[in-house]
Amino acid sequence: MFNEESNCIMNTYAYLPVNLVYGDGCYVFDDSNNKYIDFTSGIGVNCLGYNNKKWVDAVSKQASTLAHISNIFLNETTLKLCKNLTNISNMSKVFLSNSGAEANEGAIKLARKYSFDKYGINRNVILSLKQSFHGRTLAALTATGQDKFHNYFFPFPEGFDYVEVNNINSFKSKLGNNVCAIILEAIQGEGGITPLDTSFVSEVVKMCNENDILVIFDEVQCGIGRTGKLFGFNHLDVTPDIITIAKGLGGGLPIGGFLCNEKLSNVLTPGDHGTTYGGNPIACAGALVVLNEVCTSTTLKEITNKGAFLKGLLENLNLPIVKEIRGTGLMIGIETTIDAALIQKKALEKGLLVLTAGKNVVRLLPPLIIEKVDILAGFKILEEILKTL
Ligand SMILES: Cc1ncc(COP(=O)(O)O)c(C=O)c1O
Repeated sequence: MFNEESNCIMNTYAYLPVNLVYGDGCYVFDDSNNKYIDFTSGIGVNCLGYNNKKWVDAVSKQASTLAHISNIFLNETTLKLCKNLTNISNMSKVFLSNSGAEANEGAIKLARKYSFDKYGINRNVILSLKQSFHGRTLAALTATGQDKFHNYFFPFPEGFDYVEVNNINSFKSKLGNNVCAIILEAIQGEGGITPLDTSFVSEVVKMCNENDILVIFDEVQCGIGRTGKLFGFNHLDVTPDIITIAKGLGGGLPIGGFLCNEKLSNVLTPGDHGTTYGGNPIACAGALVVLNEVCTSTTLKEITNKGAFLKGLLENLNLPIVKEIRGTGLMIGIETTIDAALIQKKALEKGLLVLTAGKNVVRLLPPLIIEKVDILAGFKILEEILKTL
């Protein structure tokens, strides 16, 4: 597969040398029927694993009845998902998009329109954190606080500024009259599985509320049960104005969205925002199954429990090349002293799929339905690799 034939594909991804052809539960299989334990979930997407019967049935049924009709019509499946999302999040309204980046673009537009309507043209700056990741489209990319993603693509849209992670003085120094919102990940995913401090976040949110600066939580990677709570910010005891979601919500189909509270519910009006595929009935049918399966107190408790089990195993390793184990629930990072890509490559050779986050962090995002026995099997592979490196 990796020969001249694949030359037609734009050279943006460093593909791993394996041809995966099918999956079942938390396992995937290659074209020689070799089996791999999946600690990646398609980067936090396949939360129900592969070939989940309820998800496949719902998606197939929707595909065979009404696959797509466009947003000039409302359909029952999309409405059902929107109701479900606003109910479980206690938010007032939702807009459905197709990806995380697009969800964040929408959130930025909503924040700026709110500020424009109330304060006029000069209050439009979006603060974000260094080491954050918010997507690849130009505004989301500008909000992303990592220079390595910014190379070559200038000029960038105006109206963005950056705050040091967990540094309240850095936040205060950026708090001018021109700031309309801040966007945060409760646990920075691409940035190396870095959780935000509770004290930092609560002070930021308090000051934002006092100054009518909107708080946006980007829950694209850490939301929808990944950390053992519905949203990552639920661990921090704060309430945002806007929440962005994607990845795990679809369980394998592209979907994203942003939710807002009552204060913002009438800011966007017809013509202000839109997308052809957003709220596509097939993606919504899959997302409804995901919410039903993941967002129950029993499943969330199990995720917490399984995450603690994996984290405990890793913490007990006590190896010089392991600097720190971070994360919550089934979103775990292993910071090492060596190149994480090397560990990823060795894991693949031994039948385990893992992700990296930056140069030195191995990122683990197993399907949320994974059983402890499979967690243990995956851990054993990692242990063997880490002990021999
Ligand atoms: C926190 C966060 N926000 C936004 C995005 C962008 O999502 P997408 O790739 O669906 O555009 C990602 C993707 O990794 C993410 O982790």
